[in-house]
Amino acid sequence: MSLRRSIAVRLTVLFATVGTLVLAALGVAIYLSARHDLVAQDFAELENKAALIADLAGSGTSDERAQRLGDALRHHPDIAFHIVDEQGGVLFSTAPQALRAHARTQPADTEPRRHDWTLADGSRLHALNLRQTLADGSSLATLLAIDDARHADFLQRFRHLLAVALVAAAVASSLLGGYVVRQTLRPLRTLADEARHITAGRLQRRLTAEHVPVELEQLAQSLNGMLARLQQDFERLSGFSGDLAHELRTPITNMLTQVQVVLAHPRSNESYRETLLSCAEELQRLAQTVGDLLYLAQAEAPGALPSREGVALDAMVDALLEFYDLLAEERQLTLRREGSAEANGNRLMLHRAVANLLSNALQHATPGTEIVVRLDGTGPTSRIAVHNLGPSIPMQALPRLFDRFFRGERGRHEGAGLGLAITRAIVQAHGGSVSVVSDASGTVFELALPGASGPAQTRRQSSR
Ligand SMILES: Nc1ncnc2c1ncn2[C@@H]1O[C@H](COP(=O)(O)OP(=O)(O)OP(=O)(O)O)[C@@H](O)[C@H]1O
Ligand SMILES: [Mg+2]
Repeated sequence: MSLRRSIAVRLTVLFATVGTLVLAALGVAIYLSARHDLVAQDFAELENKAALIADLAGSGTSDERAQRLGDALRHHPDIAFHIVDEQGGVLFSTAPQALRAHARTQPADTEPRRHDWTLADGSRLHALNLRQTLADGSSLATLLAIDDARHADFLQRFRHLLAVALVAAAVASSLLGGYVVRQTLRPLRTLADEARHITAGRLQRRLTAEHVPVELEQLAQSLNGMLARLQQDFERLSGFSGDLAHELRTPITNMLTQVQVVLAHPRSNESYRETLLSCAEELQRLAQTVGDLLYLAQAEAPGALPSREGVALDAMVDALLEFYDLLAEERQLTLRREGSAEANGNRLMLHRAVANLLSNALQHATPGTEIVVRLDGTGPTSRIAVHNLGPSIPMQALPRLFDRFFRGERGRHEGAGLGLAITRAIVQAHGGSVSVVSDASGTVFELALPGASGPAQTRRQSSR
């Protein structure tokens, strides 16, 4: 489990580092503050003693003063004193020679001032070096000092404790952090386990998104959404192979039966001719279906658009209406275009998409009515709507209308059911969308396509 790849290891290291660093910073702060307080306490004690000395030495003879000072200060072995009166008589002294020698090189203060001295022998001291004026007007040279090493033991114990606490904190926060991270990441492992069990045969399974932390819920939901789409596509694809086999089997069986019947007995030339004609018709339809399927496969492939250009939809629709004019006349229908628009796309593909809609409208329109192609190029999207009057499409058929091989009852004898699938594939390849509305007021198929960008690159030329 390398550091780069494992979230658990990374988080654990992070927890341990942060925990240890915080504790170390806190420990150092407490240590420094304690040390500072101890030194302040030492100086306060020295200042107390200096005041006491001034009191005790304020009156009497030299001997009396020495007596009083000796009685009072004898019990403070950790403080070094050196008290000398005006005449140079030593009243009380416990200071070592090195300290006295050092003090002699320093000027005396009239007010208590804190000194940190390092003596010739290397020892460090906190000292007061005073010339005090006494109550009787005489003066006194007072030297008081405390060895800095007095608290060394305590501080060393403190440092040891701190080191032990730091190690313990590092270990504890690694263990605890590791445990928490592992627990937190467990839902991720559960999701991975669940995902492992989803196969092509079990695409209906979903990841449990309810009991995972909110951060993972979104991931689980996205994955579930992806699974749903995959399942849908997968089912459509499996259904498609079945449909395809079925579509091809029927005409082939028809032809086979006809040919077998004709071959069973000797027949007239006329009847052979009839059978061949009927077979040719069937083959023609088969070729059409296979051609459509190929086209559909190409239109659905990624990057299906060979080239894009500004396409003048009005000219294109006019040409189509002209092409279908005879057929419309035969069915007593009139064709009309309204509005104008321009789209950015592939001319031939768009031509085919609209032709499929028109051919459907011609097939399903009630004789004597009008088919209207409405173009709307006012917004950023160009819209083409093909409207015909006729029996409305049942509600339950609407969602499947654009599926391959889907045919309504009336369409069953006509085409292969690929026209709308091709139209949708073309429009989607352009980044557009298709929609249909069908009710008593007629059926409208609408294509929404990206409008021509920038100045019109229109080439007014009818397309076939
Ligand atoms: N304008 C319309 N009015 C009523 N029903 C329609 C209309 N257009 C399409 N349909 C229904 O949608 C079905 C699918 O249409 P689609 O164009 O995909 O296939 P088709 O026309 O049957 O065959 P193909 O277009 O491949 O020759 C049709 O069979 C028909 O039932
Ligand atoms: Mg059709």
